[in-house]
Amino acid sequence: MKIIETAKEMQMTAERLRLEGKTIGFVPTMGYLHEGHLALVKKARELCDIVVVSIFVNPTQFGPNEDIDKYPRDFERDKRLLDQEKTDITFFPDKKEMYPDQYFTYVQVRELEDHLCGLSRKGHFVGVTTIVTKLFNIVKPHYAVFGQKDYQQLIIIQRMVRDLNMDIEIVSFPTVREDGGLAMSSRNTYLSPEEREKGLLIYASIKRVEELFKGGERNTNSLRKEAEKILSSRDGIDIEYINISDAETLKELDYIQDKKAVLAIACRIGKTRLIDNTILTEA
Ligand code: PAF
Repeated sequence: MKIIETAKEMQMTAERLRLEGKTIGFVPTMGYLHEGHLALVKKARELCDIVVVSIFVNPTQFGPNEDIDKYPRDFERDKRLLDQEKTDITFFPDKKEMYPDQYFTYVQVRELEDHLCGLSRKGHFVGVTTIVTKLFNIVKPHYAVFGQKDYQQLIIIQRMVRDLNMDIEIVSFPTVREDGGLAMSSRNTYLSPEEREKGLLIYASIKRVEELFKGGERNTNSLRKEAEKILSSRDGIDIEYINISDAETLKELDYIQDKKAVLAIACRIGKTRLIDNTILTEA
């Protein structure tokens, strides 16, 4: 596996690969990889000739109260895992490479950021769309694979690609779960065994809502209340939101009718903020 640290070298390499007729599949990450990331890498491998993974802990998507220095990092381990997956290139820039002095340009997808996580994490999605745009311009992928676990991020990136006519196919990949159903996340490493057990209630509440939806319940208030009942059954789970929204616009729904909806949950367990979601659809 080749490791590239500068934008220029990555761009030149991508250009050469494109001229050779190779398709490039891209998985952007912030490192500290887990099975969820590796599933995205496998998907990119399936679709493309060349797989590029980026590892960059992006400062512009962290809020003032979110400690970027505490974000888990282990490049040697990441490298080993990516090697095992036969990744062709890891793009591993430093902060100065991505945000040099006098950096002024940001990308914003309006409306979609005014919901769910965007409400408590002001500016987060501008940071995400800015870095993803930069990475797309540097890696020049044909396909980019994103996990459904970060549902709002996925929808915002799909919209950005559409609105800005980016010639990239965004591939969405289902959430990968640990035993018991906890959605995989680099942040899970912060959880104590007891907190992890509480985290399982998020999946339990999702399954309960799915079951009720399958049974015909369409009133979102009733569905939400059931999820809340499960999450409130133990102390120490601080619910930030339980929303049932239109799966494309992310606007909250009172009733699910002829629409694809998303149940999205965010809660804090101890110091760790966890999110999860499921799609509620007739099909
Ligand atoms: O999902 C993530 O890990 C990050 O938000 C991303 C897409 C790599 C941008 O920094």
